Amino acid sequence: MNAPRDTTRKQLKLGVAGLGRAFTIMLPTFVADCRVELVAAADPNDAARERFASEFGAETYASVADLCRNPDVEVVYIATPHELHAEHAVLAAQSGKHLLIEKPLAISIDECRRIDDSVRKAGVAAVVGHSHSFDRPIRYTRELIASGRFGRIRMITAMNYTDFLYRPRRPAELDTRQGGGVVFSQAAHHVDIVRLLADSPAKSVRAALGAWDRDRPTEGAYSALLQFENGAYASMSYSGYGHFDSDELCGWVGELGQRKESNMHGSTRRALAKLSDLSVEADFKAARNYGGAQYVDAKQTKPPVANEHFGMVVVSCEHADLRPLPSGIMVYTDDGAHLESLGAPAVPRGAVIDELYEAIVLGRAAVHDVRWATATLEVCVGMLRSGREQREITLVHQQLD
Ligand SMILES: NC(=O)c1ccc[n+]([C@@H]2O[C@H](COP(=O)([O-])OP(=O)(O)OC[C@H]3O[C@@H](n4cnc5c(N)ncnc54)[C@H](O)[C@@H]3O)[C@@H](O)[C@H]2O)c1
Repeated sequence: MNAPRDTTRKQLKLGVAGLGRAFTIMLPTFVADCRVELVAAADPNDAARERFASEFGAETYASVADLCRNPDVEVVYIATPHELHAEHAVLAAQSGKHLLIEKPLAISIDECRRIDDSVRKAGVAAVVGHSHSFDRPIRYTRELIASGRFGRIRMITAMNYTDFLYRPRRPAELDTRQGGGVVFSQAAHHVDIVRLLADSPAKSVRAALGAWDRDRPTEGAYSALLQFENGAYASMSYSGYGHFDSDELCGWVGELGQRKESNMHGSTRRALAKLSDLSVEADFKAARNYGGAQYVDAKQTKPPVANEHFGMVVVSCEHADLRPLPSGIMVYTDDGAHLESLGAPAVPRGAVIDELYEAIVLGRAAVHDVRWATATLEVCVGMLRSGREQREITLVHQQLD
């Protein structure tokens, strides 16, 4: 549920670590939700810091360590590149700050453990997101499954075809060892979604990986089969190679719930081909980020026409198939098919703030806490290993109790 505007409620004083693309996507949420106040930010980029200081009248720093020394900051939103999440999360927790950490939590189980240890020792709250398991159609599908009306969950089929690999990238984003590729960035969404829907610890994963563009030498595609203790299983397929676009199967609504043109196939690849090399590409990415020369004010973007989504998902229960869509859930039963409609959110990604607020202010356990996100990362790392070693990987970090 998106929070109603209620100015009597406590605000979360948020410091942002990393004013890049993720921050830009979350900015409309932070600005629209009265429970959040942006009070400080850290980024080595001067232009981003200057814009933040003038837009929010807030303190800015070149380092996350300095941000964490600001006593006004209650929550640090960690939106730096994945390979820096562990360093920054540990620093913030040791400074007594609550955490909102972008997905994936980190790039190794050791790093996840270090974050978990520091969060527990400091007694702070931590929520890992946004991931598309926060999307309302996914959460509502989970409620429909839990109602028991359709029998036990048996199988989940999840598929997403995008242009992910050809959007402008930093070099590290094309190097798997530094957290690059679609398994770290995109399977983190897929795995969160199917784990939330299956509602059972995962047992094992078997994956195949696709890396078929030598100029972008990281995983651009995967297929994986995840087995759960309750007998359900999920298949996840992803391609970021920018040809077919599975938004076609979602009524041409894009990932962020926006209306999308149906005739743009190949356009991301064509735009990228005009850039001469990786350093020009990284500069181009930075120019479109917050404070950059080509930055488009995120607050001026059109409100979403529907809910966010992560491609096609079909959940097969014993007596029905459930298909979360941007506009609601299609329910296919013995008696026919109908749509359980869900309107566009007033505030995008409000569910992330709901979970953060409830964890910090009301002391409720977050669903997407550090242990949850460690379990998701274990599946992602398991997929990479399974693909390389061509065998099934047993999972051992999935029990959340
Ligand atoms: N949930 C989502 O929809 C979503 C979308 C995009 C990115 N992300 C996640 O957000 C994270 C960042 O990705 P991005 O695409 O925004 O990257 P980005 O390159 O656009 O932004 C990273 C920002 O961090 C800054 N930075 C780098 N080193 C820093 C440091 N030591 N201290 C402070 N700031 C530093 C950079 O200057 C840049 O502004 C990744 O983990 C990614 O998976 C999530």
